[in-house]
Amino acid sequence: MQQPIAILDSGVGGLTVVKEVMRQLPREKIMYFGDTARTPYGPRPAEEVTRFTRQIVDYLIQYRPKMIVIACNTATAVALEDIRSRVAIPVVGVIYPGARAANGRTQTGIVGVIGTEGTIRSSAYEIALKQLSPNIEVISLACPRFVPLVEQGNFRSKETQEAVESSLAPLKKRDIDTLILGCTHYPYLSDTIASVMGSDVTLINSADETAREISTILHDRNRLTRDGGIPVHQFFCSGDPRMFRKIAQQWLGEQIELTPVVWQVPNIV
Ligand code: DGL
Repeated sequence: MQQPIAILDSGVGGLTVVKEVMRQLPREKIMYFGDTARTPYGPRPAEEVTRFTRQIVDYLIQYRPKMIVIACNTATAVALEDIRSRVAIPVVGVIYPGARAANGRTQTGIVGVIGTEGTIRSSAYEIALKQLSPNIEVISLACPRFVPLVEQGNFRSKETQEAVESSLAPLKKRDIDTLILGCTHYPYLSDTIASVMGSDVTLINSADETAREISTILHDRNRLTRDGGIPVHQFFCSGDPRMFRKIAQQWLGEQIELTPVVWQVPNIV
């Protein structure tokens, strides 16, 4: 049986990574978990996000994946090392690939990062960027209004335009030439973000970079799927399956096989 790549997120945001993996690695089977019952993770304390991430990994591991992808910036920022220490398969996060791409692209050495409160509070992007280039200047900004808009499937409305314009106003005053979309939901809004920031600012989509990183790791370990037919991907979500299905099908452009999951633990928030 083909071993899947397990991809997890707090909700629908990680589907941006799924879409890129499907495009770059069309033979790989994907197993995706969106914790839509407990989204968003962004405002939650780090210990809680780590606990939720462990729980999803414990769930997915029963399907014997060959790799785990934490396709959530907030969970990557606080739980990546913890999960790596708990499982024997490669665990990929979304922060390092995005930071590396931004570092390679910037000409001025001034990079913007937008993300959830949790990601920005952790300084994970800033730490990764400064490790790559100690003199780089990083301007970070939390954009808490974006995730709820995406979770409602509200990608292009007037309300979205207004939220993007007002949230990004502080960044427009700075001299950044590269902007990391440091939240898996933000690529859904990338057209609007690009038009607000202008053509002089390059947007870095962590989803593209993460898919490349997945490909490199599987290639180096000789674990890429080389034959077989079109894989049947499997999706799990812990919240309302109708909303999840609607957004997933709209974003991925295909029907999905979806299993709703009810957490069997008392402390669901
Ligand atoms: N997936 C989260 C991230 O990339 C955004 C949504 C949330 O706050 O849970 O940070």
